[in-house]
Parts: sequence; structure tokens; C-alpha cells
Amino acid sequence: QAQDTVVTIDTAHPGATIDRNIFGQFAEHLGTGIYGGVWVGPASEIPNVRGIRSDVVAALKAIKVPNVRWPGGCFADEYHWKNGIGAASARRATVNANWGGAIEPNSFGTDEFFDFIGQIGSEAYVSVNVGSGTLEEASEWMAYMTADQRSAAGADRAKNGHAAPYRVKYLGIGNESWGCGGNMRPEYYTDLLKRYARFSRNYNPAQQGEGNPDTMQRIAVGPTDDDTAYTEGVMKAWAERDWSWSIEGLSLHSYTVPQWPPSLPSTEFGEDDYALILATTLKMDARIAKHAAIMDRYDPEKVVPLAVDEWGVWLRETPGTPSGFLQQQNSLRDGILAALNFNIFARHADRVRMANIAQMVNVLQALILTDGPKMVRTPTYWVHQMYLPMQDATFVPVSFDAGTYTRGAIAMPAVDAVAMRAKDGKLWLSLVNLDPHKSRTIAIEGLKAKSATGEVLTAANVSSINTFDAPNTVVPKPIAGILNSGKVSMILPAKSVVVIALGE
Ligand code: AHR
Repeated sequence: QAQDTVVTIDTAHPGATIDRNIFGQFAEHLGTGIYGGVWVGPASEIPNVRGIRSDVVAALKAIKVPNVRWPGGCFADEYHWKNGIGAASARRATVNANWGGAIEPNSFGTDEFFDFIGQIGSEAYVSVNVGSGTLEEASEWMAYMTADQRSAAGADRAKNGHAAPYRVKYLGIGNESWGCGGNMRPEYYTDLLKRYARFSRNYNPAQQGEGNPDTMQRIAVGPTDDDTAYTEGVMKAWAERDWSWSIEGLSLHSYTVPQWPPSLPSTEFGEDDYALILATTLKMDARIAKHAAIMDRYDPEKVVPLAVDEWGVWLRETPGTPSGFLQQQNSLRDGILAALNFNIFARHADRVRMANIAQMVNVLQALILTDGPKMVRTPTYWVHQMYLPMQDATFVPVSFDAGTYTRGAIAMPAVDAVAMRAKDGKLWLSLVNLDPHKSRTIAIEGLKAKSATGEVLTAANVSSINTFDAPNTVVPKPIAGILNSGKVSMILPAKSVVVIALGE
């Protein structure tokens, strides 16, 4: 019987390792991303451990978040870390000028951040203030976080409850320095970068020494969307580096936002919006290829990772929420969008070795939404859970005829597929059906399977959402019965994400 799509898995030619850091998170002091979303304070009636809400911690722990980028975003370039340490009663309240002029109580500061990532089992990706701070301030912050307690900075940290140095695995040197981070020419930024890269020292004894896998990686501000000025500028500087400085990552910020200001609704949208948004997100592939080609010129060995450390769909703010809080709902469409981006990152695994979705809780394409004591996992959260086998897996090439999904003048592939071999040796296949109407019959070739099980994420509509009252509208469901005499075949439902494990 003819199949709509034959997916052939080429297990003989494995590709690059898909770094687990592509599942990184971004938690900015913005709206209720931190306050309410992560931090409720120790006196709250919402169950918490030292002020950090336990439901959110449990949800994040379950998806093995590899790293959390903090404290911003644009916020990072106006953050003064000393406001956020020491006795709670002595913390200085400041104004969050970027995000709605909200009062920033500074209750969640450095020590609370490390407590939080410790609770969820994640690495720190800290962004230092290059835009409005000083190099002295940044280097003192590094000393506070990482120096031995026999130093004054380390003693201050010990006095605040943490004797051992923290582990800062990733350091962002500024944020969007071409825009909200100070509107700098690449030449000006690279001059600053060299100084920050040299003097923002990590003193943690466990993170010293060349070749030590725990050594801190410094990530420079890089391009936005298709603008290559920072890609050229920073990579040229890197190629001309000497013993005194280097970087270990270049950032790319690229949102799925077909109109600026973001005006497409996050609920009750129609098929035109659906198609426009998916077509826009698929541009990520060519965008990465464009920056990667420039990086290849300066760095053919692919030493410097590209870190897509802000990505996701940016929609109109939910009506009734405070302006500047960037709160939006999250639908099945957004889960599909997340899967498509992970597949793109996987195809570029040789260069893209970090990505941070914007953002973790209550902001933009959030994984988790909260309202007081209530919490709900979004479709984007469930895609993160389904894609767990991709963390540190080996890319396995596949070939297939994707077909076409058309809406008006917009056309795109109807099917997407990525295969990988997980760390435990198991083979996995991810399939996405972008077509909101037509299911497809899929036959998998290239292996003799002994078992095939998996999960499917779909719902009645592409605009289906999870709410506090109906949290299970879009959740993964098990699929079985897809193996017959060593052959795997299945109906891939319209508008769905499927991840299957194939036992050989
Ligand atoms: O994620 C929201 C904002 O988008 C970030 O603060 C900024 O870096 C980007 O422009």
C-alpha cells in the first residue's frame, strides 16, 4: 500500500552531538517571570522552599533544564547586583525601566538565583551589565559568586549563607549591545568585550585549567535576526585574539514575530495567523546557516558555538495584563513551533550548541503559567518533555518527502522529521505534521525495529490551550500498535508532534 511519506533513517552516518544546552531557559526580571512565577517569598502560603515555589521547581526539574540565563535580557544591562544581596530588609527597591516601570524589590538576587538553579538541577548562565555598569562592578560580582571565602568577596557570600563558591558555567558579556544594551557599534562593543572577557574572572577552583570541561564559557553579544554586523565584528576580533582574552560562544537573538509591534493574538487565532507564524519560524534555518557561514570563515574548526539565547514566538500581550509584562497564552501551534525550532537546532548541531527559549515562566513563549497559587504547563512545556531524549543525543540523518502545506500565498513543508541516537543507545524519531487538516500515513524505513512506542501531542484546534481550569487539553498521549513484523508505520495526525523510540 502506498504511503504518503516514507521516512528513511540513515543509521550508518551519524552526525554531530545535539548539545543538551539547546534546551536552555531564559528567566528575566520581567513581568511575573521571576516575581510570582519563581519567587513567592518564604512567608507565602504558596508552597515554597526558601521563597522559591515548589510546583514550578518540580515542573522544571522534570524536564532537566540544562541552563538558566539570568537576570536578563534588557534588564541585565541595568542590573546592579549589589542591590540584590544581603538581608531581605536591606535590599534596595529599584525601577524596572525596561518592563512597565515595575518596582524591582531585589528580593530575588544572586543567592536566590543559585538556590533556584540548585533546586532544579541546572547550570548558571549569568549575564553581566556592560551597558550601564562598570567593569569593576562585573568583576566584583564574579568574585562574589566564585571566589574562595578567604577573600573578602567570598567572605561576603559566606556571610550571606553560601560558603562554597558558586559555579558560573556560562557568562554573557552584555545583552543586545546593538540595541537596548547600549546601541553600540560592533567595533566599540568588541573593544569592551576584550576587557570584560579578560577581567570578569571566574575564581572557582573547580573551574580552572585549560581542557577542564567545567571551565566557564564566555558568550559574546552577537547578531539579531539577519543582521550580520556583529557576527562579522565579533568573529573577526575572536580570530585575531591573543593569550589575554577569548570567548567561547556567540549569541544570536531571533524571535518569531511577523509584525512589530507584536500584534498577533495568542488565543482564538485563525489559520492565516497559524500559517504566517509557522512560515516565519521556519526562517530560523536559513538565518542560522547565514551566520554559521560567516563563523566558518573565521572559525572553520567550529570552536565557537552559536548560542541562540533568545528565541520563541512574540505575540500581543494578553488583554487585561499590565503593559510591558509580555504575558501571552501558549497554544498547540506554539508547541509545534517549539518542535520545529528544536529540529532546526538539531540539524545545525555542529554549530548551535546552546539555545534559550524566551522565556521560562509567564513571559512570551512560556513553558509554565502561574496565577497566584495556580500553575499550568503549556504545550511548549510538553514538547520540552517529549524531546528529553534529544539532550546530548547524536544526530542521525533522515530523508523523506515532506509534501506541502499551503494556506493562501504561504506554502511550507507539511512534514518535518529528525532522528537521533540517545545517550543510552536508543534510536528516536521526532515527526511534526504542520498541516492543520490532513493527517499523513508515515512508513519508517532503514531499520528492523523490535519495538516502537512513543507519544503524540495534538488537540482539537491549533489554537487549543491549557488553562488553570482545563490544564490537560494539550498534553502528550501514548501511541502504540505501530509495529508490524519489524515494520513501523503510523498515521501522523494533522497538527501534531510525535516522538517515538525505536528498539532495534
Ligand atoms: O525577552 C524580552 C526581551 O527581548 C529581552 O529583554 C531582550 O534581550 C529582547 O529584546
